[in-house]
Amino acid sequence: MRVGIIGVGHVGASVAVSVLQAGAARELLLHDRDGARAEGEAMDLAQGAPYYPRAKVRAVGLEEASRCDLVVFAAGRNGRPGESRLQLLADNFRVASEVGRLVGKHAGIVVAVSNPVDVLTRVLQQSSGLPPERVIGTGTMLDTARLRQALAVRLAVDSRSVHAQVLGEHGDSEIVQWSGAQVGGRPLRDWPGWTREDEQRLGHEVKRAAYEIIQRKGVTNHAIGFVTADLVRAILRDEHRVLTVTRCQTGGELDGLALSLPAIVGRNGATKVIPPALDDEEAAALQNSAQVLREAWAQLVP
Ligand code: 2OP
Repeated sequence: MRVGIIGVGHVGASVAVSVLQAGAARELLLHDRDGARAEGEAMDLAQGAPYYPRAKVRAVGLEEASRCDLVVFAAGRNGRPGESRLQLLADNFRVASEVGRLVGKHAGIVVAVSNPVDVLTRVLQQSSGLPPERVIGTGTMLDTARLRQALAVRLAVDSRSVHAQVLGEHGDSEIVQWSGAQVGGRPLRDWPGWTREDEQRLGHEVKRAAYEIIQRKGVTNHAIGFVTADLVRAILRDEHRVLTVTRCQTGGELDGLALSLPAIVGRNGATKVIPPALDDEEAAALQNSAQVLREAWAQLVP
């Protein structure tokens, strides 16, 4: 189980820590265009070896990082305060296409983390030529985690007992599937004291979460580190977990577009997408999210 991380800024480094602690890799290869930075991170992480399951950590060149069972793409720049994720596209597109061409020759599976993650997942899939199920973005896994945590606080239960999900773009047009949210087998909308105002407030909070953090500390890195390690482990251990990941969809109206829907994730990637049972309002919001992503792609490839 050899995992490569391409780009070890704040996000890539947090992914590395979480992957090691999760015991998801036997060998972790770090690459950054700033070679000294990758070496420093590798040394620092290797020195923590007594505190995580056995794994080797090394800094490597780009080609070696791409020769892995799984490659995490965390290169490119992060958003500045107030900037939307889609505003990063012009800057991060080129590096995603270059890495895509390389990993297509060598890697088993690619996990995209950098933003805008949906569009970059599509860029990586097309430039690598890998099958769509093998190029997976963390997508709305992070928003789903934020939603579960916000609901956990509101309902005073553990976030692991909250079954709720965010779909569509990992960005401003994302959709909370309130109609399907459950706690303890009970629909959230039947939960005593639950109101539509709660939905508006929590939906807004989840959507704004990254903006609030970036305003304060300049970057989000820890939660995405946990999320990515969870996804990496689900893939490498063939867990068949249902996760809200982004991948290029095949067939139907969404054909070719990368956005998050629940999918079964294991050793062969995000193989089976589960069409969600949405109410009319959610279905319209998903169409809108798809349109936002189509327009972003059209700007890239006019
Ligand atoms: C996040 O949601 C910025 O996409 C990053 O934390």
